[in-house]
Amino acid sequence: MTTVTKKDFGTLSTGEAVSLYELKNSSGAYVEITDFGGAVRSINVPDKNGVLGDVALGYDDASGYEKQGKYIGALIGRHGNRIEDARFKLGRRVYILDKNDGRNNLHGGIKGFDKKLWTAKIDGEALVLTYTSPDGEEGFPGTLTATIKYTFDDNNALCIDYSATSDADTVCNLTNHCYFNLDGDGSGSIENHSIKINATHFTVGNSECLPTGYVAKVEGTPLDFTSFHVIGERINSKHEQMIFAGGYDHNWCPDGEGFRCVATLKAAKSGRVMDVYSDLPGMQFYSGNFLDGTAPFGKGGRAIQKRDGLCLETQFYPNSMKFDNFEKPILKAGEKYHHVTVYRFSVDK
Ligand code: BGC
Repeated sequence: MTTVTKKDFGTLSTGEAVSLYELKNSSGAYVEITDFGGAVRSINVPDKNGVLGDVALGYDDASGYEKQGKYIGALIGRHGNRIEDARFKLGRRVYILDKNDGRNNLHGGIKGFDKKLWTAKIDGEALVLTYTSPDGEEGFPGTLTATIKYTFDDNNALCIDYSATSDADTVCNLTNHCYFNLDGDGSGSIENHSIKINATHFTVGNSECLPTGYVAKVEGTPLDFTSFHVIGERINSKHEQMIFAGGYDHNWCPDGEGFRCVATLKAAKSGRVMDVYSDLPGMQFYSGNFLDGTAPFGKGGRAIQKRDGLCLETQFYPNSMKFDNFEKPILKAGEKYHHVTVYRFSVDK
């Protein structure tokens, strides 16, 4: 049984009030989520000794979230990751988007879903967030309403249930940009964590971290996580893919279809384990290469340094509108987008 409660989380520069919701389960483990950007602000789960610790990076109040540019904890929309040249063709039209990553569109554009104040409602054991994106926002067609249902159950599973509808054909690729550190926020680099990614293939990227359309085997590369590897083991490899991305920042193609376990993350020191489940074709493993210690500072005023956290973003493959061999995140007018991601926390004793 989970109890959801609400408290103040400060105000935005516009004067709008922001709230923080706590989802606490029967064991006392809890997750905090703000309605600004729908960001997961903390995830407090036990280590191997039963001691609760916060495994998500975040900020102390709303202004941190308003100022940040790293998408920490936030919901991402309408389209997660990059769209090359900030344009895509749908039907007979080419849609021109706002550019916010060189010539490309990243994570929905200049003011994506991570910078919106969502409408929040406590619905029993769930927190439901809604945002309606007007037709043409950031260049995307159609009025799109996104509804995100967050739950945190007695098995310490944080479930993110994403749904959306649009009144015109559009693209929709929603994800969450939580930065995890299973030894705890502020405990240093995630390079000592181990990860297993249930994927024999990945999408080859270029120097802009844009998929080129090629899907390659992970075998024989530093991207092979079909069995557990420590993240730091090959992160400084001279493999071209690693040089291009400055570490891990690639889309894996998890094996199988439908809702399945796509990755497992472990931290030996705390004994914490996180399993990631998704029904989407792709997952971005981003090792926090662009975190750089600059303001705004994180919880407790601490600077957030390179690789202090890592993201596992479930998604359609980035840049997929460009390639016939990639499944496309097209949402037709009147149809329903519905996908589910679960991050489940446990311990290895
Ligand atoms: C992307 C990175 C990007 C980061 C922004 C990740 O999802 O894969 O390339 O720099 O988000 O914080």
